[in-house]
Amino acid sequence: MRLRHIPGAEKQIEESTFVIQEPEQKKGCWAEVFGNENPIHIEVGMGKGKFLMELAQQNPDINYVGIEMYSSVLLKAIQKRETLELTNICFMCVDARKLADIFKKGEVAKIYLNFSDPWPKDRHAKRRLTSPQFMAVYDQILCPEGKVEFKTDNRGLFDYSLEAIPEAGWEIEMHTFDLHHSEYAEGNVMTEYETKFSGEGKPICKLIASRKSQ
Ligand SMILES: C[S@@+](CC[C@H](N)C(=O)[O-])C[C@H]1O[C@@H](n2cnc3c(N)ncnc32)[C@H](O)[C@@H]1O
Repeated sequence: MRLRHIPGAEKQIEESTFVIQEPEQKKGCWAEVFGNENPIHIEVGMGKGKFLMELAQQNPDINYVGIEMYSSVLLKAIQKRETLELTNICFMCVDARKLADIFKKGEVAKIYLNFSDPWPKDRHAKRRLTSPQFMAVYDQILCPEGKVEFKTDNRGLFDYSLEAIPEAGWEIEMHTFDLHHSEYAEGNVMTEYETKFSGEGKPICKLIASRKSQ
């Protein structure tokens, strides 16, 4: 998601109490950031944050961190966040490539990837958030039972992920090519893109991956 640059967005982000500034400084200290030992779930590429803020409202015993690299998009999430009474969610404006500098091994229990940019050209495959390069980053921050949950309407990216994730040493625990008409539909929280694409009649694919047991 890219929005037209909003003048002053960076400054508003720097001043927002909902955004963690210099998140590298929090590595190993995330329990202190939230003031409790609850599990931490993150969304990489959260866009305007609808999905994660809904989860945070539903699950007060889970801490959520939303990651978005574009300031104009993050600003929309902050504006929505300001209307909510929540203590279990914060945001950061970083590229997901840096996650291993921000969380120590085992600090994250779940990673959500929702409607990630497909990067259809082969030469851009490394930029896909389910590429072996990114799975290696997730491996560095997830706890042993940690999971990656991925949803997309893009069948090409989904088929790629079904091959690339096991090749990177992970196990696909479940997958469906039509989430909303599957046994996994109950309790599904829709993202902004999911609402848009399913409204256009597109089936939504989902998979959950965990590390192969040794
Ligand atoms: C297509 S949007 C989906 C937004 C939201 N997850 C949803 O489902 O409605 C993908 C978002 O991921 C962000 N993004 C892509 N690559 C990223 C990266 N490497 N690090 C952080 N954010 C990223 C983009 O800026 C964009 O806002």
